[in-house]
Amino acid sequence: VRRRPGAVRRQCSAEASVTEHTILGTLRGMVESSVRERFPDYDKPIDVAECANTSLGDFQSSSAMQIFSALAKAGETSFRSPRDVADEIVAGISEREMFDSITIAGPGFINFRLSDNYIRSELFRETKSAELGPTIKRHVLVDFSSPNIAKEMHVGHLRSTIIGDTLCNVFEFCGYTTTRVNHVGDWGTQFGMLIQFMKENGISPDSSVSDLQACYKQAKQKFDVDDDFKAKSKDMVVKLQSYDPETAHMWRQICSASRAEFQTIYDRLKIRIVEKGESFYNDMIPSVLDELQSKRLIVEDAGALCIFTESDDTPVICRKSDGGFNYASTDLAAVRHRIMSEKADKIIYVTDQGQHKHFKAIFKTANEAGWGDAQVALEHVGFGVVLDEAEERCFKFLEEKGTNLTTDEIKHASKVLGVSSVKYADLQNNRLTNYTFSFDRMLDLKGNTAMYLQYSHARVATILQKSSFAGRPDQFSISHEEERLLAIQIIKFQDALLTTLQDLAPSKLCEYLYTLCSTFNNFYAECKVIGGDNEESRIYLCERTLYTMKLTFSLLGIEPLERL
Ligand code: ARG
Repeated sequence: VRRRPGAVRRQCSAEASVTEHTILGTLRGMVESSVRERFPDYDKPIDVAECANTSLGDFQSSSAMQIFSALAKAGETSFRSPRDVADEIVAGISEREMFDSITIAGPGFINFRLSDNYIRSELFRETKSAELGPTIKRHVLVDFSSPNIAKEMHVGHLRSTIIGDTLCNVFEFCGYTTTRVNHVGDWGTQFGMLIQFMKENGISPDSSVSDLQACYKQAKQKFDVDDDFKAKSKDMVVKLQSYDPETAHMWRQICSASRAEFQTIYDRLKIRIVEKGESFYNDMIPSVLDELQSKRLIVEDAGALCIFTESDDTPVICRKSDGGFNYASTDLAAVRHRIMSEKADKIIYVTDQGQHKHFKAIFKTANEAGWGDAQVALEHVGFGVVLDEAEERCFKFLEEKGTNLTTDEIKHASKVLGVSSVKYADLQNNRLTNYTFSFDRMLDLKGNTAMYLQYSHARVATILQKSSFAGRPDQFSISHEEERLLAIQIIKFQDALLTTLQDLAPSKLCEYLYTLCSTFNNFYAECKVIGGDNEESRIYLCERTLYTMKLTFSLLGIEPLERL
């Protein structure tokens, strides 16, 4: 059979261009073109993955077994076993420079072992973000953090902040135009009663968020029992809606007091985000609802305007029977604006899982309206003052453990460690599992923790400082298996970026960094670096390790420590 050039079928996603630059992508392309050529009737996706047992190979494909059973089903008998199919696939792979060996094992697994030459050339190639970027310019809008004015940020917001920021970092690094939106809850009928209550009680709109929150609670209680207060609050909403100057002024003051407090948290976590709150979309709501109503995507039910999703019968209300707009109506206007005016190609909402139904209804409506689509993430749990406590615990830990650091350095280190631990604990979790932060776990030097990563990073940095050599790529050679595995882990970086974006899961990037650190530690335990025969070669490998660690840390939004 003759090879058809360019027969590799491309994934039809916009990420396709990225895969061409990753090892896994390249390998998958090779196996795929061989399969398409030798087994043209087989149209299922091709499996190639990292090999769990590195003594067998670096990557593995199980496609031969799948193809064999498909052939058997179709009554095709020219192959006696999956191993024969595997032979055929291997025969179809003509470019061999990439491999040291391709072997067939067990029932028909194909194992690929990368060649030293290939590893070396990949290691030399600078990690250029431009190479990863999508060929078509893509605009991703990430809606994250999004706390509510006059209320304290809770753990759901904190998680959203940390995960959203990391996703943005990775998208940005991969060349996407990235918009970071803080969809703060700064509008709604609750402001009527809050302002009314504050006026009646002479409370300054400049108050702290916790005072505002207390005020809000009292106002709510009063609203429920006091008809006179209720009526006045409703008048106040009308005033706010019509931008009555005095009311609008008070509203703005309340917003800026909350905003300042949120900002201190963003500063502490080094988060970048731009506020475009609910109020921004207020004037767009009536026309959006009209459009959706005329398209019959929202319907009137018992006086309210509702979205019905097939799966469950309780509708999502987007205009209350009293005519008031709500959370859902704002999101409908927002999603339309993001698609139509901001021209976002991809919109990601990072919120707790409790809002799943809400977003399902919004996305369904937006899709059917012919505007586009979006993806949801997330979840919630208990948080409180974790940042302070994390910092204190790290300080105590470092003091007791004993280091060469001065007290000021310990102070700085524990600040960084505290924030990294809280962030990492969050990122490292699968987004959908429940978040439980454990201080004991945070200080675990051996587990998958920020502490472990920071120690590993500081170790590499220290080795590089101690050596009197600079790394020499031209001297680089592979003389030990652990050395080879470390080099491979480094060159898998782009694969890690790709899976992070495909799954929208920072945990994938964490997994990569953790493996990089443990692979480095294995290497360091086995291979003499300073004072060894090939110090320049190994220092070069350490430099590439440090570079890749730093890059990953920065994408995760974690500041690495040079000394510990
Ligand atoms: N303010 C909301 C809350 O605290 C989160 C907003 C999420 N974003 C959105 N577009 N609805 O639950």
